[in-house]
Amino acid sequence: MSQQVRGVISRAKGAPVELTTIVIPDPGPGEAVVDIQACGVCHTDLHYREGGINDEYPFLLGHEAAGVVESVGEGVTHVRPGDYVVLNWRAVCGECRACKRGRLQYCFDTHNAEQKMTLEDGTELEPALGIGAFADKTLVAAGQCTKVDPSASPAAAGLLGCGIMAGIGAAINTGEVGRGDSVAVIGCGGVGSAAVAGSRLAGADRIIAVDLEDRKLDWARGFGATHTVNARENDPVEAIRELTGGFGADVVIDAVGVPQTYEQAFYARDLAGTVVLVGVPTPDMRIELPLLDVFGRGGALKSSWYGDCLPSRDFPMLVDLYTQGRLDLDGFVTEEIGLGDVEDAFARMERGDVLRSVVRL
Ligand SMILES: NC(=O)c1ccc[n+]([C@@H]2O[C@H](COP(=O)([O-])OP(=O)(O)OC[C@H]3O[C@@H](n4cnc5c(N)ncnc54)[C@H](O)[C@@H]3O)[C@@H](O)[C@H]2O)c1
Ligand SMILES: [Zn+2]
Ligand SMILES: [Zn+2]
Repeated sequence: MSQQVRGVISRAKGAPVELTTIVIPDPGPGEAVVDIQACGVCHTDLHYREGGINDEYPFLLGHEAAGVVESVGEGVTHVRPGDYVVLNWRAVCGECRACKRGRLQYCFDTHNAEQKMTLEDGTELEPALGIGAFADKTLVAAGQCTKVDPSASPAAAGLLGCGIMAGIGAAINTGEVGRGDSVAVIGCGGVGSAAVAGSRLAGADRIIAVDLEDRKLDWARGFGATHTVNARENDPVEAIRELTGGFGADVVIDAVGVPQTYEQAFYARDLAGTVVLVGVPTPDMRIELPLLDVFGRGGALKSSWYGDCLPSRDFPMLVDLYTQGRLDLDGFVTEEIGLGDVEDAFARMERGDVLRSVVRL
């Protein structure tokens, strides 16, 4: 029997989000219904509301979540009702050309639930990143559920489901930051601060945080930044070069994702260095770079989908580092809010007041 619960939807481009009743079908084969305990507010939810991802409204927002599996459909063996899980938005298929070559983190055919959640009138909802967790419960593909240590608080563990994993992975997996590397991170919201934390975990010796807001830079120091640059006051490219002996950083991570910051990242890296784009651009954005500089500066220009993570490998590992006190996930949780407060949380995010607002259920 389907059930009715509360959920936060975005009905039209730019319109305020609404808390409404949604209908969750029973899990079909390969699916699971998860009782959500916490879900972080990520900038990508706002991108959805603004029409920056696609125009398949209405969206059921929320995708950085932890909860408890309530029920599973036929054929589901790796999770059971009662399991504490973090939801992931890249459940690997195991069969596409990337998976077959052992590159599961790039899976080109990731899974979501086959059935649709709906509004009461039957209108199908498009869940953000195939999750939709600003809701009491949600329906996902069972592969989107990753079991983790239940002693980790849901507000902290849930953040690994998107932005914090993307940031840590942008440094560790995509940027391959290693001992002694210099790293610069442009944009220190949830994702960028996590890239700072990831760079520290990986042993970087110089970590330069760049943002427009001093508050974000203070937080970034807490996560391991050794130097900070306010991009309103200083040119980030010059500042990063100055802080790296005049050369630029080995790895520069763009956690904003606009042409201006990408260009800064491109020129703030040392010869043969790596640029990692983890911020998500909108469809209208373009960059223009001298092709000779692309060649002459060498190195690698990479994009980081979800921090190139493998949820089954990375979520439990990062939760362990958290429970051991080696990764401060609580430090990302600026405030805990209710399901009805998402629109206000977007405004606080845009003003730069928060790293993460987390909806608690
Ligand atoms: N690649 C992925 O898998 C993935 C996953 C999650 C989020 N994202 C994307 O990452 C980006 C960041 O997300 P977030 O949740 O951290 O957002 P956020 O709004 O919390 O943080 C963005 C930060 O960038 C700063 N900023 C904005 N313009 C800047 C500029 N010109 N120079 C320096 N700093 C600037 C802001 O002050 C803010 O601190 C978004 O584009 C989001 O969609 C990507
Ligand atoms: Zn695959
Ligand atoms: Zn996200």
